[in-house]
Amino acid sequence: QKVDMELEAIEKGGFEHFMLKEIFEQPKSIKDCFRGRLMANEGKLVLGGIRDYSNALINAERIVIVACGTSWHAGLVAEYIFEEFCRIPVEVEYASEFRYRNPVIKEGDIVIAISQSGETADTLAAMELAKSKGAIVLGVCNVVGSSISRVSHEGVYTHAGPEIGVASTKAFTAQLTVLTMIALKTAFRKGTIAEQRYREILVDLENIPAKVEKALKTDKQVEGIAELFKDARNFLYLGRGYNFPVALEGALKLKEISYIHAEGYPAAEMKHGPIALIDEEMPVVVIATRDSSYDKIVSNIQEVKARKGKVIAVVSEGDSLIPSMVDHTIEVPGTHEALMPMVSTIPLQLLSYHIAVMRGANVDQPRNLAKSVTVE
Ligand code: AGP
Repeated sequence: QKVDMELEAIEKGGFEHFMLKEIFEQPKSIKDCFRGRLMANEGKLVLGGIRDYSNALINAERIVIVACGTSWHAGLVAEYIFEEFCRIPVEVEYASEFRYRNPVIKEGDIVIAISQSGETADTLAAMELAKSKGAIVLGVCNVVGSSISRVSHEGVYTHAGPEIGVASTKAFTAQLTVLTMIALKTAFRKGTIAEQRYREILVDLENIPAKVEKALKTDKQVEGIAELFKDARNFLYLGRGYNFPVALEGALKLKEISYIHAEGYPAAEMKHGPIALIDEEMPVVVIATRDSSYDKIVSNIQEVKARKGKVIAVVSEGDSLIPSMVDHTIEVPGTHEALMPMVSTIPLQLLSYHIAVMRGANVDQPRNLAKSVTVE
């Protein structure tokens, strides 16, 4: 028993929980994901894992992404990236729905399955179904040699290292990294992105680990905010564009480890229902970094403040407008908007972590949850 506990303490590397360790590992895990693949100075991306199907990707009429949970959120970000840069229509499906509804899949369609564990039963079954209909199935997986990596035709590993905490953190940012690389490479070969822009984004991508490092410096401040809101019964998370999936992910993280009810919404959808929930008791986390939807999200914040909601905003460094409107601001470094989720998700991971710890929850092994869901 004592030996086991000591071993675990060593594995946690001085952190109180695996989740916190994994959150802080992200600058390194993202770098590991680049290793041997991204050469920003030379304007090069090498993705050996999908070499045989890279032409199929370029010629694809559509891409279907299948996944569950956090991996599904990574898929949503990828949808925006692929559509913007590759001009290929993308659908993101919950694997559990896709597999049971006789989906329309044509020979040559590309199906991308995203999974940390590589063992999620629904994702695996969705891949097998797509394969049986003639689709090309690519895997974005963390666990080397897992079932999903074996079932896919080709794939790209995320190389985030073992993720022990049930709440996915570093696997999520690694998935975003891989999906971004696949999209950029495809766009460049397809000619849907100008070379200069492509090169600039590769440099931005290479700089993400340093930005994540900086975002992690908000930890103490986020802990202070957690203290103020740890007893809330509900949370709302809002984002637009690339930050919309980040809102969903922030809400999922809070739900699964702190057991506080939380909902993520595209900010503009708020007025179609959830706005009725807002009162002075309701913390609303708004991911409002400077991007093409900035002005729109500023109006959404005004709508929340007009109903006396308590706004916690994640903003870009140097923003002075939003801090003057909201209750709490957390600053993160700016980057290209398509890469922002890798940075803007960091304070939300920290917020859910600290709230869960303060509520005495079992952070690494939340009730009713398993790390890999091998039953449907
Ligand atoms: C994430 O924090 C969750 N524990 C869960 O949603 C997870 O992402 C989902 O079960 C999918 O797992 P996978 O990536 O291993 O397929």
